[in-house]
Amino acid sequence: MAAAQKRGVLIVFEGLDRSGKSTQAKRLVESLNKRAEGSAVLQAFPDRSSPIGKLIDQYLKKEIDLDEHSLHLMFSADRFLKNQMIRENIAKGIDVICDRYCYSGVAYSLAKGLPEQWVRSSDVGLPKPDAVLFFDVSPAVAAQRGGFGAERLETATMQQKVAAVMPTLRDDSFWKTVNADGDLDTVEKDVFRLYENLNREKPFESLEKI
Ligand code: TMP
Ligand code: MG
Repeated sequence: MAAAQKRGVLIVFEGLDRSGKSTQAKRLVESLNKRAEGSAVLQAFPDRSSPIGKLIDQYLKKEIDLDEHSLHLMFSADRFLKNQMIRENIAKGIDVICDRYCYSGVAYSLAKGLPEQWVRSSDVGLPKPDAVLFFDVSPAVAAQRGGFGAERLETATMQQKVAAVMPTLRDDSFWKTVNADGDLDTVEKDVFRLYENLNREKPFESLEKI
């Protein structure tokens, strides 16, 4: 009898801007696909190509203004649009790697001062990550990596607020810290070590709280 096919894993890359999470999420997916073609997919949130993501993109580029409550729900809706895709891939044994997830959603909205319980509720029910890799970058190293971009939330004030909130969302049962101060190859190796140690035997779950 053939061995039962193992499920895929859901890995979320979170951290501040310039922590290197997008670069490393891409590297992990490329390296997994080099080993086995089609074994991993990358999903960035927001997905700026979806109808909702296009509106979010316009907001971030300061082309339109949006009510902050609506914006929070749009970020959540953008993730729920990928709910089925994530679950189907995991069931097929394909790994899903996300560049940001609901933790950015909660951290940025709390940083803006939206009500905590309300902010934390809208992503409940999403697929629960097997691991959240928190990219921990020291302010000095982040500063060396260049200036902020021109997007709406890319300001020093906002980054400081998000930096204060993000660690409070931490759940040690599935969050892992990546020292993001290292060079690209060192960080890539650290990420891969964490990837290899994930447990595919335990059942895939949904988020019951954030
Ligand atoms: P990006 O720079 O990774 O494309 O992210 C877009 C911006 O949107 C970034 O400033 C973080 C912010 N953001 C939220 O405010 N809420 C969310 O739910 C997500 C995913 C991102
Ligand atoms: Mg950015």
